[in-house]
Amino acid sequence: MNFNKITPAIIKQIQQILGDQYVLFDSESLKNYGHDETEEFLFLPEIVVKPRTAKEISEILKIANTERIPVTPRGAGTGLSGGALPIHSGIILSMERFNQILEVDERNLQATVEPGVINEVFQIAVKELGLFYPPDPASKGSCFLGGNVAESSGGPKCVKYGTTKDYILNLEVVLPTGEIIETGANTLKNSTGYNLTQLMVGSEGTLGIATKIIVKLLPLPKYDLLMLVPFRSLDQACEAVSGVFRAGFTPSALELMERDALDWVCKYVQSTVVKLEDDIQAHLLIEVDGNDMEILMKEMEAISELLNKYDIADILFAESSAQKNELWRLRRGINEAVRNNAISKEQDTVVPRAELPKLVKRVKEIAEKYKFKTVCYGHAGDGNLHIRLIKGDLTDEQWNGEYIKKAIAEIFSVCKQLGGTISGEHGVGLVQQEYMNIVFSEKALQLQRNIKNVFDPNGILNPGKMFGS
Ligand code: LAC
Ligand code: ZN
Repeated sequence: MNFNKITPAIIKQIQQILGDQYVLFDSESLKNYGHDETEEFLFLPEIVVKPRTAKEISEILKIANTERIPVTPRGAGTGLSGGALPIHSGIILSMERFNQILEVDERNLQATVEPGVINEVFQIAVKELGLFYPPDPASKGSCFLGGNVAESSGGPKCVKYGTTKDYILNLEVVLPTGEIIETGANTLKNSTGYNLTQLMVGSEGTLGIATKIIVKLLPLPKYDLLMLVPFRSLDQACEAVSGVFRAGFTPSALELMERDALDWVCKYVQSTVVKLEDDIQAHLLIEVDGNDMEILMKEMEAISELLNKYDIADILFAESSAQKNELWRLRRGINEAVRNNAISKEQDTVVPRAELPKLVKRVKEIAEKYKFKTVCYGHAGDGNLHIRLIKGDLTDEQWNGEYIKKAIAEIFSVCKQLGGTISGEHGVGLVQQEYMNIVFSEKALQLQRNIKNVFDPNGILNPGKMFGS
């Protein structure tokens, strides 16, 4: 892909559209917007722009399309696959000023939001009305709803309620060529034409930029209960996951934390809520929710009875909302804690739930073969295992080169063999793209590239992501 540099004349044009204060090119801003939460990557853009309206985005994209300038859309920059990295430089288009909840339609249980609204801000706003927006990525306190749409983000609640894709009814989107379209309708059912809405969801900012998001809401469940179950073996913890569902339960969260993950996060956030005994190798964090406390208590009891068949130690039943919050703080803090503890790479594997024990076993074998450590955690109820590869004693050359890529490819091949794939909720972005051929045939990849070309004939929008460039 041949791109052009941004000229002073182009900067001037963009300044006229946005006003000078929303076009940044000082070195500090370029650095701030040159990274996300993916490893240690830093790619400097030439300018950062902060539009406020779809029309402004449209005008900027028309210029970029004519002048062949790469544009990388950016939400809050919390991504873990490098989707917001401006790897070809050019323009970073930040959606941070699109921060309004435009409407909560209580009659229809829907809301219209802008993409720069923080996930948790939205969750709290609808909660006050007795409503519920379930997708809850670990970064919910800072990630944007637009970024959630781009990655089809998940989170703990998704095991019962589904991921972002299950809540997006309709989108207003600016195309790379500058036209503004609506992708669908504000309805729960829709069999009208191709499903452009769902094509946009998870497209990682490669097909268009969502400027309005219409989401589905649910009534807020009144109660939830939470328990932390210690297992003496990781394999047993993984086996128990599908056991819970097979016994007829649908928890509202079923998370796995391998020993080191919990150990490191407890130290990182200085929490003492969990006493980690020497013989414990993994924990399951299990939540049930609903409107009848008696039923929930019975359900918790029945799940704990079932789990007593496995090799577990004493279950911790959260006694207060403070304790629940503390356990969730630990679970949500793992990614950051592990990142801060060791040089690592995150993989977002996903397999059919009952294949989780096989996946973990194979991952540990591959890690042993290649002489690195792994720390596993994640949304076990969804078969979605986050694997942190730890550099440990590997040389820089091994860590940055073909050696580690071969190991990652082996892990992904196992996912494929087990009926799974290489990302459950973080997206492909920059870091997983070279492994796409493990899970897609050349024809299936070509179809996707062709779709990209239809939307973005000049390849200016988030180039180099998903399929390379
Ligand atoms: C989590 C993020 C990393 O589950 O997806 O913690
Ligand atoms: Zn996750």
